[in-house]
Amino acid sequence: MSRPAVVSRRGSARWTSGHPWIYRSDVVASPEPADAGVVAVADASGLPVGQALWSPTSEIRLRRLAGPGETIDAEWWERRLEEAAHRRGGIDATAYRVVHAEGDGLPSLVVDRYGPVAVVQLLSAGLEARRHEVLDAVEAALRPDGVLLRNDAGVRRHEGLPLAVEVVRGQVPDALTVEEHGIRYRVEPATGQKTGAFLDQRENRRLAGRLAAGAAGRVGDPIRCLDAFAFHGSFALHLSVGARTSGAHPDIVALDQSADALMRGRENASLNDIEGIRWVEANAFDFLRAAAADGDRYDLVVLDPPAFAKRRESVPAALRGYKEINLRAMRLLRRGGRLLTFSCSYHVGRPSFLEMLGSAAADSGRDLVLERVLGASADHPELLTVPETGYLKGALIRAL
Ligand SMILES: C[S@@+](CC[C@H](N)C(=O)[O-])C[C@H]1O[C@@H](n2cnc3c(N)ncnc32)[C@H](O)[C@@H]1O
Repeated sequence: MSRPAVVSRRGSARWTSGHPWIYRSDVVASPEPADAGVVAVADASGLPVGQALWSPTSEIRLRRLAGPGETIDAEWWERRLEEAAHRRGGIDATAYRVVHAEGDGLPSLVVDRYGPVAVVQLLSAGLEARRHEVLDAVEAALRPDGVLLRNDAGVRRHEGLPLAVEVVRGQVPDALTVEEHGIRYRVEPATGQKTGAFLDQRENRRLAGRLAAGAAGRVGDPIRCLDAFAFHGSFALHLSVGARTSGAHPDIVALDQSADALMRGRENASLNDIEGIRWVEANAFDFLRAAAADGDRYDLVVLDPPAFAKRRESVPAALRGYKEINLRAMRLLRRGGRLLTFSCSYHVGRPSFLEMLGSAAADSGRDLVLERVLGASADHPELLTVPETGYLKGALIRAL
């Protein structure tokens, strides 16, 4: 006979308020058998409250999957995958996220599509225990040529799981070309950052291109853009194409401290027949400081740094770092120029991010308008009750 996991009143209240996680301290009794997998969950009075992924050694012991009555079998996973894929209908790109874990009601599961290939991450012990069912569902719902497991994300360590990258179905090439709103770029799914690329910025890159297209200011002047923290240049490529459609000559700088990333950027530029981007290997902090000191001016600046706050304790230092680069970028804007700025630090919430921008603006000596508050692309749905799903925040700022 199997026995449900029993959770405290505080644990079941978390589910009622829309967050799927229940922590170790709110588990009153472990399920039996206690192996990782899908388990029934009851509240302190013994009433069934749902079913969850059970991770016996993780701080996050339970992740809610479904109500008490549902049968969680191969068909259930397939249906959920199909629904998630259906919600992505109409995306003008061959690389996008199909399942954004909690944001799609499938906690700890990430599925990204890179053309014919599906890249999957199983990020909890409970989900790992259902690996075959999940992979069958990915195959049935998405019909990819191959499935790659990118199970090398560090969070798996908290679940007592090994890190590994493996092709588990069909064929997965080492590199492939994807297309995003008319721009092509190369992705290496097994070795690239995250699952191969920063898919969460897709819509913001399109926005950057549109802003560049509309930036035609002074006749005969080039449109000057800076893509700082450029990785393989995908913002720079959109900026270049956008600026060109405006009829103006684009003058684009793509900056990263990684020579390898810049080499990929150059390859992506030639893949799109784009010339004239200057690829600069530098520390963005130094570059921005020097450019501001030189009185350099840009029509568009993009700041897309890595997460400065990897842990809660590093938030104050991270905010100082964000303020420094934003302050300098604000000073680089021409009148009417725009700054697209981001933070992907989960520990820096949206209010802190906007407050930091206000503080940078106050010190910048410029008059700046917050035109839009930005987030991740719509294929990374953010649940209002699950802040972890909304780690990427951004702002579009205009200099008067
Ligand atoms: C979040 S990624 C950028 C993603 C990219 N904008 C895109 O849309 O694909 C951050 C990049 O910043 C680079 N980086 C990290 N610290 C840096 C620094 N201090 N100066 C310049 N580049 C840095 C990393 O090499 C990485 O490529």
